[in-house]
Amino acid sequence: MLYGPDPGDDRLRKHVASWLTGFYQPSDPIKEARITITGGASQNLACLLQVFTDPVYTRNVWIVAPAYMLAFRIFDDSGFQTKLRAVPEDHGGIDIDFLKREIRKSEDKAISEENNEPKFKGTRPWAKVYRHVIYAVPTFSNPSFKTMTLNRREALVRLARDYDALVITDDVYDFLQWPASLETKTLSLDKAILPRIVDVDRYLDGGTDRQGADGFGNAASNGSFSKICGPGLRTGWCEGSEKLAFGVSQTGSTRSGGAPSQLTATFLAETLESGELQNHVLNTLQPAFGKRYQKIVQAINKELIPLGVGVPQTDRDVVGGYFIWLTLPRPLKGAVVTQRAKEDENLVVAPGEIFEVPGDNEHASFSHDLRICFAWEEEDMLAEGIERLARVIRGLQNEQDKASEATRPQVAEGESVKDFW
Ligand SMILES: Cc1ncc(COP(=O)(O)O)c(C=O)c1O
Repeated sequence: MLYGPDPGDDRLRKHVASWLTGFYQPSDPIKEARITITGGASQNLACLLQVFTDPVYTRNVWIVAPAYMLAFRIFDDSGFQTKLRAVPEDHGGIDIDFLKREIRKSEDKAISEENNEPKFKGTRPWAKVYRHVIYAVPTFSNPSFKTMTLNRREALVRLARDYDALVITDDVYDFLQWPASLETKTLSLDKAILPRIVDVDRYLDGGTDRQGADGFGNAASNGSFSKICGPGLRTGWCEGSEKLAFGVSQTGSTRSGGAPSQLTATFLAETLESGELQNHVLNTLQPAFGKRYQKIVQAINKELIPLGVGVPQTDRDVVGGYFIWLTLPRPLKGAVVTQRAKEDENLVVAPGEIFEVPGDNEHASFSHDLRICFAWEEEDMLAEGIERLARVIRGLQNEQDKASEATRPQVAEGESVKDFW
C-alpha cells in the first residue's frame, strides 16, 4: 500500500513481458524494461502526449478513421483540438500514400512558419518531442473491425521514422481473437496473428537502436486489462523502446504519485503468475466471444446482406474484438437508422458519424455506416437483434421506394427513364 515504483509493479512488468513474448513471438524476448504499467490505455494516451509532444512544435495528430471517439478529448486536452487530421482506410487498413502526402504538406507549412523547436517543452533528458503523432487501432479495430496488413504496418513504421512521428496504437483487442470460419468448433488461438507496430519498430531495418537513431523508437503500444479482465481495474501497460517506456514512467503525475493502479497491478501479477488469466482468455473469453461472433454473422448473412448491407475484410482467416462495422445501402443514413432502431425496436447501435475525426471529415466521412457490438449481449439475443435491425432497414427502404414512386415523373413514349434520374 506504499507508493509504487514509477514504471509500475516489478512482478507485473516481468509477467506481462513474458506473456507478451509468448503471444507475439518476437525473435528476441520482450524485456521488462520495455514495459511500464499504466492506468489503462486512455490514461496512458494522455501521459504519452504530456511527455512526448508539444502543442505547437508537434504539427499534427493523424488519426486513422473511423476512430475510437473517446480518444478525441484526450488529444484536445493536450492542445491538439485544431490539429487533428483524419487518415482514411481502404481494404488493407491505413492509406499510407494519403498520409505521406499530407504529412509532407504539414512539414512544408512548418518550415514556412519556422516551427523549428518545441515551444512549451524544455529539454528533459528522459523525453523527446516528436514532430507528429499517429493514432491507430491496428488489430480488430474499434470501430472499423479491420486489421491492418503486415505490409501497411511496415510502411507505417518507415513513414514514422522519415517524419519523426510517434505511432501510438491501442492494442487492446489483440487477445480477443478466433478463426473467422463460421463452421469452426475450436475458437481458441494462443498466438497473435501479426506483430504489433511496436514489434515491427523493434525488428525493421535495424530496429530502434539502428545507427543514427536516438533510441526512443517510433512506436508506443497501449495494452489494457480492460477488455480481458475488467475496465474497473484501470490497469494496462505501455510497451516501447526502453527509453520510451522509461520516459512515459516519468510523467509528472506518476513521479509524484507513483505508478497508477499500484494495488490492482499486484492482483493482476498474481493472475498472470498462476496462469489463471491466460487460461481465462483462451478457454472462456475467446470461445464465448467467438460463439457470439458466429451467431451474429450468421444472422447478418441471412438478414442484412440481402438488403445491400456491407461488411469489411470478409477474406480474413482470423477475426476478433467487440465490434462489426456495417455499411448501409445508399441512400440510408446511419443516424436515421440508429434513431429508428432505438424508437421502434429498442435496439442500440452506433451511427458512423460519431467516429469521424472532429473538424476533418472531408476524406473520411461515415454518415452511411453503423457500428454494432456483439460482445455485450448473450449469445441467444444476437440473431433477434439483427432481425430487428433488418426490420428497421427494410421499413426505411420501403418508405423510400414509396416516396420516389410518388415523385417519379411519368415517362412519355420515346423517352427513357434515365433522362429523369
Ligand atoms: C480503441 C480503444 N482504446 C482504448 C479503450 C479504453 O481502454 P482503457 O479502459 O484501457 O482505458 C477502448 C475501450 O473501449 C478502446 O476501444
